[in-house]
Amino acid sequence: MDGNGRWATERGHLRVYGHRKGAERVREIVEVAAEAGVKALTLFAFSEENWARPNFEVKALMKLLNTYLIKEKDRLMEMGVCLETIGDTKQLPKSNQKILREVIRDLSGNTGMKLVLALSYGAQSEITDACRNIAASVKDGYISLEDIDNNMFSAHLQTSKYPPLDLLIRTSGECRVSNFLLWQLAYAEIVFTPVYWPDFRSDQFTEAVIEYQSRQRRFGKTGEQLTSGGVEGSYSSEVAVESTNSLA
Ligand code: FPP
Repeated sequence: MDGNGRWATERGHLRVYGHRKGAERVREIVEVAAEAGVKALTLFAFSEENWARPNFEVKALMKLLNTYLIKEKDRLMEMGVCLETIGDTKQLPKSNQKILREVIRDLSGNTGMKLVLALSYGAQSEITDACRNIAASVKDGYISLEDIDNNMFSAHLQTSKYPPLDLLIRTSGECRVSNFLLWQLAYAEIVFTPVYWPDFRSDQFTEAVIEYQSRQRRFGKTGEQLTSGGVEGSYSSEVAVESTNSLA
């Protein structure tokens, strides 16, 4: 969800006005994703590195998060959306933690799309935490070194219960992944769009999904192998939209 700041300053507004407009887009994109049958939509709403932004901006973002959660809860309930988070949410102000806990609890019975908010999230920390937990299990004798493989590693990540990541959309013209879902991106398709997040509407989301559908996902195989047999798992539906630190 990148480009809020530039969208605002180019229009002579404060950066936080761009975040406010960005929050409005969240509603629209959640709706179009749920309608499209996306199983899990992960929004990079606040990175670990974003704590280094000016205090005023951090406070405004935390306030916007609460406003969004309170305002959108009923609509999310109507759509059957289940809310979850990844990231070190214990770093968030207590009021955000409280509202998140309440909304997550209230929506927990829903069986529709999972809306995953990445908050105080950094993929490198997620990976080092997984390493630490696995190392502790080896040290305590619960598992042996030979037990460690890609599946076990994935199971120690915060995203372990979500389907494989299919598509990453990054808005605002930046062509980098900025510490977002680094392990999970191994075979994801990536769509970079020049559109700033506040201008990213449902039509652009649909275009990105159509672009994704036009790609041949080979997972290391040859095109010929695919046309003769197909590759299992190539058309599931998890989408991640990145919003990140412009300093990254
Ligand atoms: C990146 O744009 C955006 C963010 C760091 C925050 C994203 C937050 C929202 C869209 C609203 C609140 C979130 C929810 C879930 C309601 P930027 O500030 O880095 O833009 P720039 O690169 O143009 O400066």
